[in-house]
Amino acid sequence: MSMADDIDRVLYDEDALQARIAELAEEMNVVYSDDEPPILVCILKGAFMFLADLTRHLSFRHEIDFMEISSYGSGTTSSGAVRILLDLASDIDGRHVIIVEDIVDTGHTLTYILRNFSSRNPASVRVATLLNKPSRREVDAPVDYVGFEIPNEFVLGYGLDYAQQYRNLPYIGVLKPEVYADEV
Ligand code: IMP
Repeated sequence: MSMADDIDRVLYDEDALQARIAELAEEMNVVYSDDEPPILVCILKGAFMFLADLTRHLSFRHEIDFMEISSYGSGTTSSGAVRILLDLASDIDGRHVIIVEDIVDTGHTLTYILRNFSSRNPASVRVATLLNKPSRREVDAPVDYVGFEIPNEFVLGYGLDYAQQYRNLPYIGVLKPEVYADEV
């Protein structure tokens, strides 16, 4: 069985993703300028493809950095515990920051990052997320740029994983229920 056989349906294909990401970039291009280059912080691992496509549409000078956060076990449900696996290499003191996330679900991860960043005195922090699941929110987490609002379904592909796999699929899709039927 190939990975594609595990997919129930495609929510956003490559064209839809690229078109929306170009629009998000345009929104940013009118806000940021070369005078104060922001730092785009890619939240690993899920946001790596989104960052790669987004950054190519940005017309203002910017830097990129990476932070890895763990909030999940191997399955589809949150363990609740959030911790930093890889911290920023840059000093964000006095800098404009754009957090680049794959998906905001319960909001715990983003809340943790925002709280952590506020103690580092950035000039500003905005949040860009490719996907948003507002119906799952447990804590209020502000997002400035949203690619797509999605219903309460577990999605994968385009950087997002199920049990660390499927990140390479070029689209966002939903798994067939039998693929994770074993999970409690
Ligand atoms: P939150 O802390 O519940 O908002 O979860 C944020 C993180 O959980 C995201 O950055 C993803 O890595 C992961 N996540 C949440 N929902 C999904 C999903 O539907 N598919 C894949 N990963 C998800």
